[in-house]
Amino acid sequence: MKAVPVVALSRRGGLVPRVWRRDVAAVLIPEERLARRVRALARRIQKDYQGRDLVLVALLSGTLVFLADLIRHLTLPLRLDFIGVSSYGAGTVPGRLVFTKELKLDVAGRDVLVVDDILDTGRTLRRVLEKLEALRPRSLRVCVLLEKKGRRVEPVKADYVGFEIPDLFVVGYGLDYAERYRHLPFVGVLHPQLLDGAEVVETERGSARNGPAARHSAGRTARRV
Ligand code: PRP
Repeated sequence: MKAVPVVALSRRGGLVPRVWRRDVAAVLIPEERLARRVRALARRIQKDYQGRDLVLVALLSGTLVFLADLIRHLTLPLRLDFIGVSSYGAGTVPGRLVFTKELKLDVAGRDVLVVDDILDTGRTLRRVLEKLEALRPRSLRVCVLLEKKGRRVEPVKADYVGFEIPDLFVVGYGLDYAERYRHLPFVGVLHPQLLDGAEVVETERGSARNGPAARHSAGRTARRV
């Protein structure tokens, strides 16, 4: 596969849509660039799995936008399933993975491609891959939109990578901060002050901080600017 595009944070930061300027410090990957790269990833997947009956397993919830765009470029026979996994649950114990939804399909003897939005420490994918391997698929590969190379604590490698990004707290195109910002059409860098223990409250004109009770997921907090 061609080299993975490495995204650097532009100092201009002037492309943030007005409505998001109080929340987002910079656009890291604009909409058009995401669209081009997702199309290229889909072409590659299409070629590699030609003639196979693929089972695509997406991890909830961060993959929702990436997945929707990716699969609409695929003309392979494929079935879609989801695993719900989060690096925090009802509690706030750092690093604790909680499975909220299990697979429905039988993947034994099948070609399985796991799709996730971001590969960071690798803890999430490591656990998911262990689970899937135990189900004896014919093949098991990983596709992620984003990866942060220097942060791995588990030896997980992705077979398809959209972009390599720096260690910034990113939101949008499915990625959240305290369940917000998933619907931004671009990948942006959250204003660092929004991560400083303040709860983010959206208003019609953007968002504001409101008190000291921010909800951090363990994984996402570790991706602070
Ligand atoms: C995020 C993301 C990845 C994981 C990556 O999930 O979607 O699955 O963290 O981090 P890691 O490589 O350090 O494990 P999160 O738990 O925030 O849940 P979400 O997808 O619902 O946002």
